[in-house]
Amino acid sequence: MKKISQLFSVFLITLFYFTGCSSTGTSVKSPDNTLSLNVVSEGGHIFYSVSKNKTEIIEKSKLGIISDKFNLSEGLKIANISYNNKNEEWTQVWGEQKVVQDHYNEMILSLESNSNDFSLIVRFKLYDDGLGFRYEIDKNEEIIPFSILDEKTEFKLTEDSESWWIPAYAYRRYEFLYANTLISEINRDKFSELVEHLHDPRIGPEAVQTPFTTQRKDGITIAIHEANLTNYSSMTLKANGTSHLECDLIPWSDGDKVKTQTPMVSPWRTIIVGNNPSEIIMSTITLNLNEPNKIQDVSWIQPGKYIGLWWEMIGTNQSTWGSGPHHGATTEKVKKYIDFGSKYGFEGLLVEGWNTGWDENWCCTGEGEAFDFYHSHPDFDDKEVAKYAKEKGIRLVGHHETGTQISNYESQLDSAFAYCQKMGIRVVKTGYVNDGSQNIKRIKSDGTHVKEWHHGQYMVEHFRRVLETSAKYEVGIVVHEPIKDTGLRRTYPNMLSREGARGQEFNGFMPKDWNNKPNHTTILPYTRLLSSPMDYTPGIFNLKDYRYNSPEDRKINTTHHIPSTIAKELALYVIIYAPVQMAADLPENYEGHKGFKFILDVPVDWSESLALNGEIGKYITMARKDVNSDDWYLGSITNEEKRQIDVDLSFLDPELSYSATIYKDPENGGWESKPESLEIIEMVFNNSDMYSIVLPEGGGQAIKFSPIN
Ligand code: NOJ
Ligand code: CA
Repeated sequence: MKKISQLFSVFLITLFYFTGCSSTGTSVKSPDNTLSLNVVSEGGHIFYSVSKNKTEIIEKSKLGIISDKFNLSEGLKIANISYNNKNEEWTQVWGEQKVVQDHYNEMILSLESNSNDFSLIVRFKLYDDGLGFRYEIDKNEEIIPFSILDEKTEFKLTEDSESWWIPAYAYRRYEFLYANTLISEINRDKFSELVEHLHDPRIGPEAVQTPFTTQRKDGITIAIHEANLTNYSSMTLKANGTSHLECDLIPWSDGDKVKTQTPMVSPWRTIIVGNNPSEIIMSTITLNLNEPNKIQDVSWIQPGKYIGLWWEMIGTNQSTWGSGPHHGATTEKVKKYIDFGSKYGFEGLLVEGWNTGWDENWCCTGEGEAFDFYHSHPDFDDKEVAKYAKEKGIRLVGHHETGTQISNYESQLDSAFAYCQKMGIRVVKTGYVNDGSQNIKRIKSDGTHVKEWHHGQYMVEHFRRVLETSAKYEVGIVVHEPIKDTGLRRTYPNMLSREGARGQEFNGFMPKDWNNKPNHTTILPYTRLLSSPMDYTPGIFNLKDYRYNSPEDRKINTTHHIPSTIAKELALYVIIYAPVQMAADLPENYEGHKGFKFILDVPVDWSESLALNGEIGKYITMARKDVNSDDWYLGSITNEEKRQIDVDLSFLDPELSYSATIYKDPENGGWESKPESLEIIEMVFNNSDMYSIVLPEGGGQAIKFSPIN
């Protein structure tokens, strides 16, 4: 980590007194002065408010925590206020950009309670791209266990703006399309009406998952999320029919929100703020509010691209994970995939269905046959395949579908990752398929079972155990059905990627009316991807008539048509950041295809990333620079509407001219009429040029710019 400057200073405490009422207040601004935070203490309560460019965007909102041992939401008095600032750079092991600036002004508010002797610090950090704050609770440095019953943090947005959200307390975790409504319209009925009928039981409050994004009429875009979710439960945002939201922590099965002890530090509550949607994409708050890298030797953590024995189960429906005549992961077939992957220089080959446990009822109760993570399926000679892969210079990507049998997985964790290390596996995709959010079986110490929520503290702690164990065995993980990303990849760079949204798989197995709509990938960058990276698995070339009725019935099921184009699939490699990107289609759909070259060329590790333009749910253009060369890549995609986007190429190096290979849809193309028509043209550009991108309905464009020597 290269530190260029670090300045900690205590500067003037600006305590101000409001006339006419007994309130005490203080304030702090971001380094560029555009964002300001005010804190007031009134009647024993502590409130904060936030302004951007002098416009109040969050009005007086309450802070506080209530536990079984104390109430730190009332009877509070400000005992001390101190201020710090910091400006330093740090370097990512891999990422959207190599160097990250950590520049903030900090305010530390020490509070005393009139009813108990627990102390509370609220620490605020104001960045140019938003703010974060967290609670720190202590009692004279003693270890005192307590249960949080409620966190009182409010987010009272001043305007009832347009917002993009997915429901919390719903059965399919984070795998929903987004609703677009006013904040005051957030509720499950609205979601059922606009997006997908949410079936019963509708337990838990009306709440949304984070990152939750809203855009004001003046363009200011705000995303509420959290950073460094550690030993705590996930924050959701409870709605009440106004523009005011409140922190709602996912409870344990016994109703406690968080089981913890002093000294306790909460995750950061973050409010990402930009003048427009593009600015929130560029925010680095989530990473800056996590601890520095804890893994000393990172030589084994290598970004890369992978193919998979996967789409033939999830997409084309020709093979099965379990035994039988259509079992996909046989020694012979995996070797063919190895040949293909090695021929084209892929770093990894994902093999699903390699192990036992798939045959009976594994989905979706967490009760089925126990998965085994170190004995392979009888058709799959793991040693022979590992040897073959080694000879061919490609690594297997392991797969641990747990079926949310958490105790079963945890009891095998060490042996499972030790097995990976022995087999030369450096990346494992894990999976937590289940059929409901509060359906995770937890076996208590007395042997009885309870059901926990997918994103409560029980699972937050489980996911951390897996991350730490995999690091011990030099394995990186890509989690499907994860909890949300809160920036842990900074501390554990083996936390490579995760799903945590509706990915390509829904296009694979869902018929036309139920798959991802063309606008889905124009919403993700402003919502789910703010917590980046995502294992979306782009790159499907056979977009229509690709799926069989079943592995036995090899007739094409014509109800399936992926709402994308090949050019858009290519653009997604630039739009959606991930250090491990899949080329998801079958080898035969790539072999000999002119568009495959882009997938082979596109990097997964960048020195710089730029959100050039975009409107949430409509379109987006991203440009990224390869970390290992002077090449730039650009991806641009649209929703169901065609459009023309003029792009200023001033991001290119002024000293260089570039040859550009442009992968585009025909102008009269689009996802419905010509999804598989791809045009490739060559042009020459320099940084004073403008380029006009023409996108047909549901289309995209991908460009590689290489300097001309
Ligand atoms: C759901 C995952 O998202 C998918 O990628 C995987 O193939 C299946 N579960 C089976 O593990
Ligand atoms: Ca999934």
